[in-house]
Amino acid sequence: MEKTLARLRCADPEAAAGTGAGWDGVGGPEPLRCAEAGCGGEAIDGTACPRCGGLLEFAAPRGIGREALVQILRERSKGSSAADRSGVWRYRELLPHLDPARIVSLDENEIPLQEAPRSAAFGGVERLNVYHCGRNPSGSFKDAGMTVAISFAAARNSRAALCASTGNTSAAMAAYAARAGMGAFVLAPAGGVSQAKIAQTLAYGAHVLTVEGDFDDALELARAVGAASREVAVVNSVDPYRIEGQKCVAFALLEQRGWRAPDWVVLPGGNLGNVSALGKGFREALALGLADRLPRLCVVQAEGAAPFAKAWQSGADLEPVKAQTVASAIRIGNPVSWRKARRELRACDGLALAVSDDEILQARRAIGSDGLGCEPASAASLAGVRVLRRQGVLSGGEDVVCILTGHVLKDSSVVEPLTPEPVAKSVDAVLSAMLKEKK
Ligand code: F0G
Repeated sequence: MEKTLARLRCADPEAAAGTGAGWDGVGGPEPLRCAEAGCGGEAIDGTACPRCGGLLEFAAPRGIGREALVQILRERSKGSSAADRSGVWRYRELLPHLDPARIVSLDENEIPLQEAPRSAAFGGVERLNVYHCGRNPSGSFKDAGMTVAISFAAARNSRAALCASTGNTSAAMAAYAARAGMGAFVLAPAGGVSQAKIAQTLAYGAHVLTVEGDFDDALELARAVGAASREVAVVNSVDPYRIEGQKCVAFALLEQRGWRAPDWVVLPGGNLGNVSALGKGFREALALGLADRLPRLCVVQAEGAAPFAKAWQSGADLEPVKAQTVASAIRIGNPVSWRKARRELRACDGLALAVSDDEILQARRAIGSDGLGCEPASAASLAGVRVLRRQGVLSGGEDVVCILTGHVLKDSSVVEPLTPEPVAKSVDAVLSAMLKEKK
């Protein structure tokens, strides 16, 4: 039954005057199709297939060729508009259509590939590049998807954005919703989210509601709220617009490399929206002639939250687990996008594996020693590289890119071996502490 949301008030008077339905500044959304193999269901909007309840996705872009695209991108590199500067909207021919005037952007996904020699040594490979999504405006990879999700939510006059989150989705949603003048509400698992991420989310003016249970419970509730009210935009990765934004990481990564794909792209996995998005992006780039081949994707889960890695290795369907790991961002036991993720890994001869919390923390230190730093969940990617090398899947000479998903300041709950020590307020005391450190 449709419920109206008396509590949810949009801060933008113009949007608030809207009906909560219909589109503003867009010709209407492109048709969405069901991502489930063999279903064939279609929808105009929403997050679930009306026929089977599976996830929805946009069809691959068509009607534009490599030469035209490369030319457009070259011209846009000199552009100064928000749409041209964004590492997502720069690729707008490959996204659902939206009037550029309606774009809600914070200069996301402008990220250079960086060499990480100490991390390479840790992983046992000769060369490693990282794509550090912590450089995004809200400090995580979520921004690339959120700019698209919130732009379209605003265009269809949604009253409020809602998400379940382990903290990064909520921060990104809060930032973009604030920019759009839209209300933002978060369902956060009680006690399971980094305080830094909650503080960040609140700082953008979002409302945080804590829910008993874990992320999986919170997501189920968010989806139920979205199904009960058309005025609410649920912007978790069940939202196909989010996936469209996040797939642009594949385009940006390829563009920087002169459209040559690396051998491997390794990334952490929780709810598995990101690996689904990257896989889609690389496939579309190949189909458009933008990439020379598909990179192999490796998605890395934390051992205590690894239902997909287990399912991948056994070939069986996913069995949800009660998740437990130090990497709170990927403490997810029932990943909603697992079927999409499986399809993408099959398409690129990819892999899924699990690493221990200890391996994640060691990898994080290695990334720190390159002066890069990241939150624990992100370091699962490098820990995964080390496992691939140990298992002989990598021989060491491959061209590997790790996706680092979140900024080092995102999660300060994890205790490092080095802790602050008190020192007397004297030159001698400071020098002797420094000498002791050198030994
Ligand atoms: N890394 C970080 C830092 C994350 O925050 C997340 C997910 C992932 C990896 C996993 O990505 O779910 O697409 O497989 N964070 C979500 C959140 C769940 O609420 O912020 P995924």
